[in-house]
Amino acid sequence: MVTMIPILTTNAGQLFQADCLKVLAEVESSTVDLAFADPPFNLGKEYTSKINDALAEEHYLAWCESWLDEMVRVLKPGGTLMLWNLPKWNIPLGEFLRKRLTFRNWISVDIKYSLPISGRLYPSHYSLLYYVKGPKPAIFHPDRLPIACCRHCGGELKDYGGYKNKMNPAGVNISDVWTDIPPVRHAKYKKRDANALSLKLMDRIISMTTDPGSLVLDPFGGSGTTYVAAELAGRRWVGSELECSSIIERFDALGDDREHLDEIWSQKNKLFTDADLKRRAKSGKPLSLDYRIDDRVEIEQDSCNCKPSTKGPAQHAL
Ligand SMILES: C[S@@+](CC[C@H](N)C(=O)[O-])C[C@H]1O[C@@H](n2cnc3c(N)ncnc32)[C@H](O)[C@@H]1O
Repeated sequence: MVTMIPILTTNAGQLFQADCLKVLAEVESSTVDLAFADPPFNLGKEYTSKINDALAEEHYLAWCESWLDEMVRVLKPGGTLMLWNLPKWNIPLGEFLRKRLTFRNWISVDIKYSLPISGRLYPSHYSLLYYVKGPKPAIFHPDRLPIACCRHCGGELKDYGGYKNKMNPAGVNISDVWTDIPPVRHAKYKKRDANALSLKLMDRIISMTTDPGSLVLDPFGGSGTTYVAAELAGRRWVGSELECSSIIERFDALGDDREHLDEIWSQKNKLFTDADLKRRAKSGKPLSLDYRIDDRVEIEQDSCNCKPSTKGPAQHAL
């Protein structure tokens, strides 16, 4: 559908080393199931692509609106648009989108991204705006999440009291506050661009809003997390990036990402992660028989008596 020559073609996708506006202009209208964007945040950062990341505020917003308009055009009816940015930018950009699409959620993704700023609250979440084209999404199957457990003893952080046997063995309903997305700092990914999003985040978005064979578009490739997550989950994808070498390198060695994604898949849609079950067994508090899960062990004591951690909220291992 895009007439330019891709710099990378895979089983499922095409990557163009070009300005996103040029590529978007060639994408056919109403063909995309998920349009996701993680643009530069205009914070004056240095990018390998040497873009100017310190534009005047109106200039930055006008530029964002130009590619958002294109993303709206290429979406299928019922298709999803997700925009990852700082709350500061997603407020005006959300208003822009509200006039064109149907608002679904402002998802707060709890990740600390700067040092505390004197006289301000500590910035601690990214905004993930979620809109659909038309009244309702064509595809919506959100993951269910494991119960949040203490990272020391594996005990539940919340007391489910007499409701344990009524809980869905596939996990709890996902809310619009995501606290289990880890920053990307695993040793394996050290050489990757500091802006890379986590594979767990992109997998969650892609599984929620697309089906196998759906088309995913991301105009800002970065290190290619969206494309890798789409490719490995059997979705088609199309993308652009001004400097594609890290994406090409990543696709040359997909094994690490495949292994990481397998680990993510093995731990979702279950009430307790394997790591939490192990922690519970080790700390002498295996699982209450009231929970409906398959690999249960004997009952002893359920909830967490550990002292609150000084290192912030529990994060899942993945
Ligand atoms: C925040 S990063 C995206 C990171 C990506 N989501 C990941 O997980 O690796 C934004 C990227 O947009 C690219 N970019 C900036 N302006 C662009 C443009 N006009 N066209 C295409 N890519 C652009 C930058 O080079 C940068 O790699």
